[in-house]
Amino acid sequence: MTESRRTFLKATALTTAGFALGSTFEALASAVDDDKLAAASRLTDAEGQFVLPPLPYKYKDLEPVIDEATVRLHHDVHHKAYVDGANKALKQLAAARAEGNFDLVKHWSRELAFHGSGHVLHTLYWTSLTPARGSEPKGDLSRAIDRDFGDLAKLKAHLTKATVAVEASGWGVLAYNVLDRRLMVLQVEKHQDLTVWGAVPLLVIDVWEHAYYLKYQSHRAEYVAAVWDALDWTAAGLRFEAARKAA
Ligand SMILES: [Fe+2]
Repeated sequence: MTESRRTFLKATALTTAGFALGSTFEALASAVDDDKLAAASRLTDAEGQFVLPPLPYKYKDLEPVIDEATVRLHHDVHHKAYVDGANKALKQLAAARAEGNFDLVKHWSRELAFHGSGHVLHTLYWTSLTPARGSEPKGDLSRAIDRDFGDLAKLKAHLTKATVAVEASGWGVLAYNVLDRRLMVLQVEKHQDLTVWGAVPLLVIDVWEHAYYLKYQSHRAEYVAAVWDALDWTAAGLRFEAARKAA
């Protein structure tokens, strides 16, 4: 294979991964039978500015798994800060281009990666959770879990351990890798470190302390165990379907 052919294939694969991630948001944003889920999945407004999407449920609806005060602070303050941070980074990079002054390009590129990834992951987090209890993977997603992890119990053990073991602040993620067409469990540090090219997140668990400390204090494992019962496998299934179609 020639070098240009290899470069082309790599570029198209990564474009496909980005397209697949976009399609998972579009799939939920256009969910005609669930207006709240659709609104909660919109990352940007009509002008392309990042915006804080509304929650698809009331602040108190995740209780007793996650308390109202935590959800309120987490969404209104922490998530909003990532939205604002991502917009600021884009603005500063546009100003740098306009002025031809890239002295701070490293700083604003890092800010964009951190805040932009924070916005994406938090939007996924709110739609990875549901006030309903006992949701389970169904159909193609269920079959893919059996194929790639053995069964749901093994995925649960893997994802739980990986999430609890994230160093400092970060995320446990169930993803579908569009390059090798397999499900995978990821640990993400901060919002952007240890990410894998091609991995499209289907379901995410936030283990920054702001996600659980008011109620669970230092007991991260108790929070992750409780959250498992509030996961929304219907949303994860929609994302899986969209990512597979786009890949
Ligand atoms: Fe968070």
